[in-house]
Amino acid sequence: MRATWCTDLHLNFLRPHALRAFYDTVAAERPDLVLLSGDIGESDSVVQFVDEIAEAARCEVYFVLGNHDYYRSGIRIVREAVQRAPRRARWLPALEPVRLSDRVVLVGVDGWGDARCGDLDSKVLLSDWQLIEDFRKARTDRDARNETLQRLGANEARTLAALLARAPATEQLLVLTHVPPFPQACWHAGAQSDAQWLPWFTCIATGEVLAAHAAKHPDTRITVLCGHTHGHGVYEAAPNLEVRTGGWPTGVEGYGNPIVQATLEL
Ligand SMILES: [Fe+2]
Ligand SMILES: [Fe+2]
Repeated sequence: MRATWCTDLHLNFLRPHALRAFYDTVAAERPDLVLLSGDIGESDSVVQFVDEIAEAARCEVYFVLGNHDYYRSGIRIVREAVQRAPRRARWLPALEPVRLSDRVVLVGVDGWGDARCGDLDSKVLLSDWQLIEDFRKARTDRDARNETLQRLGANEARTLAALLARAPATEQLLVLTHVPPFPQACWHAGAQSDAQWLPWFTCIATGEVLAAHAAKHPDTRITVLCGHTHGHGVYEAAPNLEVRTGGWPTGVEGYGNPIVQATLEL
Protein backbone atom coordinates (compact mmCIF):
# COMPACT_ATOMS: atom_id res chain seq x y z
CA MET A 1 0.00 0.00 0.00
CA ARG A 2 1.35 3.40 -1.02
CA ALA A 3 0.73 6.30 1.37
CA THR A 4 1.76 9.68 0.00
CA TRP A 5 2.57 12.18 2.73
CA CYS A 6 2.50 15.96 2.32
CA THR A 7 2.66 18.70 4.92
CA ASP A 8 2.42 22.49 5.09
CA LEU A 9 1.15 22.77 1.54
CA HIS A 10 -0.24 26.29 2.10
CA LEU A 11 -2.11 25.91 -1.19
CA ASN A 12 -3.80 29.31 -0.81
CA PHE A 13 -0.52 30.83 -2.04
CA LEU A 14 -0.86 29.08 -5.42
CA ARG A 15 -2.41 30.31 -8.65
CA PRO A 16 -4.80 27.87 -10.40
CA HIS A 17 -2.23 26.59 -12.90
CA ALA A 18 0.33 25.80 -10.18
CA LEU A 19 -2.40 24.20 -8.06
CA ARG A 20 -3.36 21.89 -10.91
CA ALA A 21 0.32 21.01 -11.47
CA PHE A 22 0.68 20.10 -7.81
CA TYR A 23 -2.41 17.87 -7.89
CA ASP A 24 -0.87 16.11 -10.91
CA THR A 25 2.34 15.60 -8.90
CA VAL A 26 0.39 13.91 -6.10
CA ALA A 27 -1.54 11.73 -8.56
CA ALA A 28 1.74 10.70 -10.25
CA GLU A 29 2.78 9.05 -6.97
CA ARG A 30 -0.06 6.56 -7.61
CA PRO A 31 -1.10 6.68 -3.96
CA ASP A 32 -3.52 4.28 -2.31
CA LEU A 33 -4.06 6.97 0.29
CA VAL A 34 -2.84 10.51 0.95
CA LEU A 35 -1.80 11.85 4.36
CA LEU A 36 -1.79 15.62 4.97
CA SER A 37 -0.29 16.86 8.23
CA GLY A 38 -1.87 20.31 8.36
CA ASP A 39 -1.45 23.88 7.07
CA ILE A 40 -3.27 22.91 3.91
CA GLY A 41 -4.83 26.32 3.26
CA GLU A 42 -6.88 28.73 5.37
CA SER A 43 -10.36 28.51 6.88
CA ASP A 44 -12.13 29.52 3.67
CA SER A 45 -10.20 27.12 1.42
CA VAL A 46 -9.13 24.03 3.39
CA VAL A 47 -12.31 22.03 2.64
CA GLN A 48 -12.00 22.76 -1.08
CA PHE A 49 -8.32 21.78 -1.15
CA VAL A 50 -8.69 18.43 0.64
CA ASP A 51 -11.61 17.51 -1.61
CA GLU A 52 -9.68 18.47 -4.75
CA ILE A 53 -6.66 16.39 -3.67
CA ALA A 54 -8.93 13.37 -3.07
CA GLU A 55 -10.50 13.91 -6.48
CA ALA A 56 -7.14 14.24 -8.26
CA ALA A 57 -5.48 11.33 -6.43
CA ARG A 58 -8.62 9.15 -6.69
CA CYS A 59 -8.16 7.77 -3.19
CA GLU A 60 -8.94 8.47 0.44
CA VAL A 61 -7.27 11.49 1.98
CA TYR A 62 -6.67 11.53 5.73
CA PHE A 63 -5.71 14.87 7.22
CA VAL A 64 -5.21 16.90 10.37
CA LEU A 65 -5.50 20.68 10.55
CA GLY A 66 -2.66 23.11 11.19
CA ASN A 67 -2.79 26.57 12.74
CA HIS A 68 -3.07 28.27 9.31
CA ASP A 69 -6.16 26.21 8.47
CA TYR A 70 -7.99 28.19 11.18
CA TYR A 71 -6.92 31.63 9.91
CA ARG A 72 -9.74 34.19 9.64
CA SER A 73 -12.09 31.94 11.61
CA GLY A 74 -12.16 29.88 14.80
CA ILE A 75 -11.15 26.37 15.78
CA ARG A 76 -14.65 25.02 16.42
CA ILE A 77 -16.07 26.49 13.22
CA VAL A 78 -13.39 24.98 10.97
CA ARG A 79 -13.53 21.60 12.70
CA GLU A 80 -17.29 21.51 12.18
CA ALA A 81 -16.88 22.49 8.53
CA VAL A 82 -14.44 19.68 7.73
CA GLN A 83 -16.78 17.12 9.26
CA ARG A 84 -20.02 18.44 7.76
CA ALA A 85 -20.44 16.56 4.49
CA PRO A 86 -19.57 12.91 3.94
CA ARG A 87 -16.44 13.16 1.83
CA ARG A 88 -13.46 11.19 0.66
CA ALA A 89 -11.10 13.50 2.54
CA ARG A 90 -11.45 12.83 6.24
CA TRP A 91 -10.30 14.70 9.33
CA LEU A 92 -8.57 12.06 11.47
CA PRO A 93 -9.40 13.26 15.01
CA ALA A 94 -13.09 12.62 14.30
CA LEU A 95 -12.47 9.03 13.17
CA GLU A 96 -11.92 5.87 15.12
CA PRO A 97 -8.36 4.54 14.65
CA VAL A 98 -8.13 3.51 10.98
CA ARG A 99 -6.83 0.02 10.24
CA LEU A 100 -4.99 0.50 6.96
CA SER A 101 -3.79 -3.10 6.72
CA ASP A 102 -3.32 -6.10 9.00
CA ARG A 103 -0.02 -4.51 10.09
CA VAL A 104 -0.74 -0.77 10.18
CA VAL A 105 -3.12 1.45 12.16
CA LEU A 106 -3.47 5.23 11.64
CA VAL A 107 -4.57 7.90 14.13
CA GLY A 108 -4.24 11.68 14.06
CA VAL A 109 -4.68 14.89 16.03
CA ASP A 110 -3.95 18.48 15.06
CA GLY A 111 -1.65 19.31 17.99
CA TRP A 112 -0.87 22.85 19.09
CA GLY A 113 2.32 24.72 19.99
CA ASP A 114 1.52 24.62 23.68
CA ALA A 115 3.90 27.09 25.37
CA ARG A 116 5.50 24.48 27.61
CA CYS A 117 9.14 24.68 26.53
CA GLY A 118 11.69 27.23 25.35
CA ASP A 119 11.47 30.91 26.32
CA LEU A 120 7.91 31.73 27.37
CA ASP A 121 8.84 35.43 27.22
CA SER A 122 9.78 34.89 23.56
CA LYS A 123 9.82 37.97 21.32
CA VAL A 124 8.50 35.88 18.40
CA LEU A 125 4.90 36.84 17.69
CA LEU A 126 2.69 34.54 15.61
CA SER A 127 -0.02 35.68 13.19
CA ASP A 128 -2.18 33.00 14.85
CA TRP A 129 -3.00 35.36 17.68
CA GLN A 130 -4.34 38.01 15.32
CA LEU A 131 -6.01 35.71 12.79
CA ILE A 132 -7.63 32.97 14.90
CA GLU A 133 -10.77 33.95 16.74
CA ASP A 134 -9.95 31.82 19.81
CA PHE A 135 -7.12 34.22 20.72
CA ARG A 136 -9.29 37.36 20.63
CA LYS A 137 -9.17 37.91 24.38
CA ALA A 138 -5.51 36.87 24.63
CA ARG A 139 -4.10 38.87 21.71
CA THR A 140 -2.13 41.35 23.73
CA ASP A 141 -1.91 39.55 27.07
CA ARG A 142 1.10 37.22 27.19
CA ASP A 143 -0.02 35.23 30.23
CA ALA A 144 -3.55 34.77 28.92
CA ARG A 145 -2.11 33.70 25.57
CA ASN A 146 0.20 31.12 27.10
CA GLU A 147 -2.69 29.80 29.19
CA THR A 148 -4.82 29.46 26.06
CA LEU A 149 -2.01 27.62 24.25
CA GLN A 150 -1.48 25.26 27.18
CA ARG A 151 -5.21 24.51 27.31
CA LEU A 152 -5.30 23.83 23.56
CA GLY A 153 -2.31 21.49 23.89
CA ALA A 154 -3.93 19.63 26.79
CA ASN A 155 -7.10 19.17 24.70
CA GLU A 156 -5.04 17.67 21.87
CA ALA A 157 -3.32 15.29 24.29
CA ARG A 158 -6.68 14.16 25.67
CA THR A 159 -7.97 13.44 22.16
CA LEU A 160 -4.80 11.54 21.27
CA ALA A 161 -4.84 9.49 24.48
CA ALA A 162 -8.46 8.51 23.85
CA LEU A 163 -7.68 7.46 20.26
CA LEU A 164 -4.64 5.44 21.33
CA ALA A 165 -6.64 3.73 24.05
CA ARG A 166 -9.10 2.55 21.38
CA ALA A 167 -6.45 1.57 18.80
CA PRO A 168 -6.20 -2.17 18.20
CA ALA A 169 -2.90 -3.94 18.86
CA THR A 170 -0.72 -3.49 15.79
CA GLU A 171 2.78 -3.92 14.45
CA GLN A 172 3.01 -0.36 13.16
CA LEU A 173 1.18 2.72 14.36
CA LEU A 174 1.17 5.83 12.18
CA VAL A 175 0.40 9.10 13.97
CA LEU A 176 -0.37 12.15 11.88
CA THR A 177 -0.12 15.52 13.66
CA HIS A 178 0.74 19.07 12.69
CA VAL A 179 2.94 20.24 15.55
CA PRO A 180 6.15 18.36 16.43
CA PRO A 181 5.58 16.60 19.77
CA PHE A 182 9.18 16.93 20.98
CA PRO A 183 11.55 19.93 20.97
CA GLN A 184 14.18 17.75 19.27
CA ALA A 185 11.77 17.25 16.35
CA CYS A 186 11.43 21.02 15.74
CA TRP A 187 13.78 21.23 12.81
CA HIS A 188 14.48 24.49 11.07
CA ALA A 189 17.28 25.12 8.57
CA GLY A 190 18.90 21.81 9.50
CA ALA A 191 19.06 22.47 13.25
CA GLN A 192 16.75 22.45 16.24
CA SER A 193 14.62 25.57 16.57
CA ASP A 194 15.91 27.94 19.23
CA ALA A 195 14.27 28.86 22.55
CA GLN A 196 12.48 31.83 20.95
CA TRP A 197 10.52 29.55 18.61
CA LEU A 198 10.17 26.38 20.67
CA PRO A 199 7.13 27.46 22.74
CA TRP A 200 5.10 27.87 19.54
CA PHE A 201 6.68 24.98 17.61
CA THR A 202 6.31 22.08 20.07
CA CYS A 203 3.31 20.27 21.50
CA ILE A 204 4.74 18.91 24.74
CA ALA A 205 1.36 17.49 25.80
CA THR A 206 1.00 15.15 22.80
CA GLY A 207 4.67 14.16 23.18
CA GLU A 208 4.00 13.00 26.73
CA VAL A 209 1.12 10.82 25.52
CA LEU A 210 3.20 9.35 22.69
CA ALA A 211 6.19 8.59 24.92
CA ALA A 212 3.92 6.84 27.45
CA HIS A 213 2.25 4.81 24.70
CA ALA A 214 5.61 3.80 23.22
CA ALA A 215 6.86 2.64 26.63
CA LYS A 216 3.69 0.64 27.23
CA HIS A 217 3.74 -0.99 23.76
CA PRO A 218 7.38 -1.88 23.07
CA ASP A 219 6.38 -4.24 20.24
CA THR A 220 4.58 -1.51 18.31
CA ARG A 221 6.70 0.60 15.98
CA ILE A 222 5.32 4.16 16.12
CA THR A 223 5.98 6.61 13.31
CA VAL A 224 4.88 10.21 13.80
CA LEU A 225 4.50 12.38 10.70
CA CYS A 226 4.38 16.10 11.46
CA GLY A 227 5.24 19.50 10.02
CA HIS A 228 4.68 23.12 11.14
CA THR A 229 8.37 24.12 11.34
CA HIS A 230 8.96 23.72 7.57
CA GLY A 231 12.35 22.11 8.34
CA HIS A 232 13.01 18.50 7.48
CA GLY A 233 14.42 16.07 10.07
CA VAL A 234 14.03 12.75 11.87
CA TYR A 235 14.16 12.28 15.66
CA GLU A 236 14.26 8.92 17.46
CA ALA A 237 12.35 9.68 20.65
CA ALA A 238 12.50 6.04 21.81
CA PRO A 239 13.63 2.74 20.26
CA ASN A 240 10.09 2.25 18.90
CA LEU A 241 9.12 5.92 18.41
CA GLU A 242 10.34 7.87 15.37
CA VAL A 243 9.24 11.41 14.56
CA ARG A 244 9.57 12.57 10.97
CA THR A 245 9.18 16.31 10.48
CA GLY A 246 8.36 17.36 6.94
CA GLY A 247 10.02 20.35 5.40
CA TRP A 248 12.15 21.89 2.72
CA PRO A 249 15.92 21.82 2.39
CA THR A 250 17.77 24.82 3.83
CA GLY A 251 17.32 27.85 1.59
CA VAL A 252 14.28 26.50 -0.25
CA GLU A 253 11.08 28.43 0.36
CA GLY A 254 8.23 26.36 1.81
CA TYR A 255 5.40 28.79 1.07
CA GLY A 256 3.99 28.54 -2.45
CA ASN A 257 6.22 25.53 -3.15
CA PRO A 258 4.18 22.47 -2.17
CA ILE A 259 5.99 19.14 -2.40
CA VAL A 260 5.42 15.46 -1.68
CA GLN A 261 7.44 14.65 1.46
CA ALA A 262 7.48 10.89 0.87
CA THR A 263 5.47 8.00 -0.44
CA LEU A 264 5.59 5.28 2.21
CA GLU A 265 5.22 1.61 1.32
CA LEU A 266 3.06 0.21 4.09
FE1 LIG B 1 3.15 25.71 7.78
FE1 LIG C 1 1.83 25.44 11.18
